[in-house]
Amino acid sequence: MKATDLLKKQHKQVKTLFKKVEKTENPRERRQLMDQIDQELKMHTRIEEQIFYPAVRGIETKKAEEMVMEALEEHHVVDLVLAELPKVDPADERFHAKMTVLSELVEHHVDEEEEEMFPMAEKKLGAEELKALGAQMEQMAGMSGRGRKAA
Ligand SMILES: [Fe+2]
Ligand SMILES: [Fe+2]
Repeated sequence: MKATDLLKKQHKQVKTLFKKVEKTENPRERRQLMDQIDQELKMHTRIEEQIFYPAVRGIETKKAEEMVMEALEEHHVVDLVLAELPKVDPADERFHAKMTVLSELVEHHVDEEEEEMFPMAEKKLGAEELKALGAQMEQMAGMSGRGRKAA
């Protein structure tokens, strides 16, 4: 699969999880969904940071470099929120607010990737390279996805 399509697919999966977690008040379900969001976001940002962003950087324009730097900072903020999750009580009334903030953060970031970074990458990297990157990503996603399915 083309690298950008694979990343967009992962974006959709995370968005679906956010919608689900918004709808439930069951603490057990909330905890499960929160763990899943944590895992999927971590895997996704790792794939981007190790495979996709370096390729975008390789375009070697000022714009590409700026986009990657900003994206990395946003990942950093997402990481900070994710690091707090183990302390979040799914039965607490603040749970919903916390998830909403994380979801909005991710949504903003995803919009910038899909509206700016991905179209630029598709234009500059070419079909071959996008396919090769996609294959690398699939491999990495497969490796980290195995054996840690939520109970
Ligand atoms: Fe990202
Ligand atoms: Fe992304």
